[in-house]
Amino acid sequence: MALWSGRFTENVSEFTQRFGASLPVDKQLYAQDIAGSKAHARMLGEQGVISKEDVAAIRDGLDRIQERIEAGEFEFDINDEDIHMSIEKALIADIGDAGARLHTGRSRNDQVVTDTHLYAKQRCTDLMQANLALRQALVDLAKEHFDVILPGYTHMQHAQPVFLSHHLLAYVWMLSRDFKRLAAAREAADVNPLGSAALAGTTYPLDRRMTAEELGFSGVTANSLDAVSDRDFLLDLSYACSVSCVHLSRLAEEIVLWSTAEFGFITLSDAFSTGSSIMPQKKNPDFAELIRGKTGRVVGDLVALLVTLKALPLAYNKDLQEDKEGAIDAARTLEDCYTCMTGMVSSMTVNAQAMEQQVGKGYLAATDIADYLVKKGLPFRRAHEVVGHLVLLCEQRGGCRFEDLSLYDFKNECDLFEPDIVDQLDMRFIADARLTEGGTGRSAIREQLKLVEETLVEDGRRI
Ligand code: ARG
Repeated sequence: MALWSGRFTENVSEFTQRFGASLPVDKQLYAQDIAGSKAHARMLGEQGVISKEDVAAIRDGLDRIQERIEAGEFEFDINDEDIHMSIEKALIADIGDAGARLHTGRSRNDQVVTDTHLYAKQRCTDLMQANLALRQALVDLAKEHFDVILPGYTHMQHAQPVFLSHHLLAYVWMLSRDFKRLAAAREAADVNPLGSAALAGTTYPLDRRMTAEELGFSGVTANSLDAVSDRDFLLDLSYACSVSCVHLSRLAEEIVLWSTAEFGFITLSDAFSTGSSIMPQKKNPDFAELIRGKTGRVVGDLVALLVTLKALPLAYNKDLQEDKEGAIDAARTLEDCYTCMTGMVSSMTVNAQAMEQQVGKGYLAATDIADYLVKKGLPFRRAHEVVGHLVLLCEQRGGCRFEDLSLYDFKNECDLFEPDIVDQLDMRFIADARLTEGGTGRSAIREQLKLVEETLVEDGRRI
């Protein structure tokens, strides 16, 4: 029979026992559960609710249980329903009455949410670390290929030349914002709900600040009803994971695209590619695709939790037991995706030549030729039209490049063109001229890199 079975005469059926149990999921929270119980016991002792001898017996007993779990010697029994019952039952079996005093002034409702706050905090920290590692890998790649130029795209059409470093740093900024979201999720979890008891607080003189301190929480929750039913901190974590996964899926998509024969911009290392069981020549970007695919599941975890919480009355309801699996999954999936992406980015080969070759196609100098005319006094709309005609002329000549036109051809469209128009056609010259703050000119990228590296150091300190 369960530890709460006093008012019952019959056991639940085997099926409902399994259906109602959360042990397969929440056993992952054993360390947090034990830490919470140890803090609660010490505080009960300090407040004179239980004896100091009981506190010592409880804390030692819990340490022994932790050792058994970590050594794989603890037998989890589905009949215990959840991790809280498993550990408490084992403690009572070990130390008797002292163990039976542990749950004084506490409910599983504040116990479970305390465990979950601790878990979420830790996972946010792990993810922040993994996020930093990926950003560092992208920055390293950007520095290594600082001068490589490639077409920048809009609508997937060649638009203007950009430096590869600039392109890669765009992802670093996305990830910097993700880091902030993870830090905010950690802050949301950093508050102690223990002492809220079942829903209304308790008559025992609990010192909630004392348990907060032992558990490393910065403060205590202010309303017991809210504390036991709030899962916003898990929403925050799941949202942070979802947005970051969406960012990774965008990068993954470009990696897939860039490794096609059509692009050939990068070659993935063998360690991050797979073959085909039938086509011997294949080298597939499976892991980039998988990262892209995992995004659906992480966003699903967020949506599932949002829907679980919708219309839930105060305070604890068993629905809340559904909170952990998705959040744990979202965090683990994102951490794996960060690790995989870091390895993939650090080991891929950049094919600078293929990128540069593409820069020569698609009239990437068009805007700059128009700007050249503007600088010579032509209104921009007129200049736009002149360059449009030049593009048309190139197309009529079988898709030749601006470089293949003569000065006469240029002058034929507009007599403001001079021999110096040739400079305007150089892709590095064009890209370097974009010196606005945040632009792709190399001196602007150098400034950007300084900012990126400062942010990395600052974020490193926040972990
Ligand atoms: N296993 C439960 C959960 O994860 C623990 C809290 C159960 N509380 C209760 N009164 N049934 O939510």
